[in-house]
Amino acid sequence: MIKRLLPLDRAQWFPDRMILGDLVFRLEHYKNDDWDLGDQCLAFFKVRGLVDQYQEFWALRPSFRAENVVELGIWDGGGAAFWFEMLDPRKLIAVDYSPRGDSDYFRRYVARRILQERLKTYWGTDQADRSRLQRIVEDEFQGPLDLVLDDASHVYEPTLASFETLFPLLRPGGFYIIEDWAWAHWKEFQGPRSPFAGRTAPTKLICELVEAAGGVTGLIASLTVMVGFTAVERGPVALDRPLAFSLRDYISREPWPRITRVRALARQKLRRLTERMRLAG
Ligand SMILES: C[S@@+](CC[C@H](N)C(=O)[O-])C[C@H]1O[C@@H](n2cnc3c(N)ncnc32)[C@H](O)[C@@H]1O
Repeated sequence: MIKRLLPLDRAQWFPDRMILGDLVFRLEHYKNDDWDLGDQCLAFFKVRGLVDQYQEFWALRPSFRAENVVELGIWDGGGAAFWFEMLDPRKLIAVDYSPRGDSDYFRRYVARRILQERLKTYWGTDQADRSRLQRIVEDEFQGPLDLVLDDASHVYEPTLASFETLFPLLRPGGFYIIEDWAWAHWKEFQGPRSPFAGRTAPTKLICELVEAAGGVTGLIASLTVMVGFTAVERGPVALDRPLAFSLRDYISREPWPRITRVRALARQKLRRLTERMRLAG
């Protein structure tokens, strides 16, 4: 049974930090110049609202147990430590394409809790590097994955690459979670000054997952779309060649005639309007 997610009586929330036992998580969204703890903390890229959504999600699945966990996107290790505290898995492997390395605070946490064999980080690892991800999972885990948490690029192509690599390695009933998939629908991330300007949003992948979930019985057992994340539950369908898994192969779609019709009507209206304006001089 999953430990109750961040029992709120154990987690103490402050405007700029969350404290869990002897761990201090600095809330990156509320970073300020008055930070008085220096680097005696883990930077954490989650806000309380997101943690509450996870709480809600797991509360509906009280018997879910995650032993083998992969997290994509480490930053300062806040997410990795948070998930480790929450899930108490057999092993959690976290990867990040940055060469940054573990902070002293993170290293001390791992050493203090004697987690060297259970909580490992792989820096310099791109989530789009399919063969490297496969190798890491093969080397680190015995048995299938229970949970993948993607909090890395938030961009369609690399997100799809790691999904296609790791989803087949989940057990049926395991979850693949894509965090912050919805940035393209948030005003502060729209426009040319957005850090994601010019990038394809994961919304495209979420729509493809809906298509695959509807078209193939047993590939995706369920899809839960929340503001902060989308959770894809692995169905029982056997994937004979997991290393060659391509989501596109599981999508069958009829052309969408209504769109064509709506576009044709809009064009017709525009033509009439232009003609009327021309006649009116
Ligand atoms: C939002 S931060 C992760 C935050 C962390 N999970 C937490 O909860 O505190 C995103 C991280 O993803 C990493 N990243 C971005 N693109 C990536 C890619 N293509 N492959 C692997 N990591 C990537 C960045 O270097 C950054 O450290």
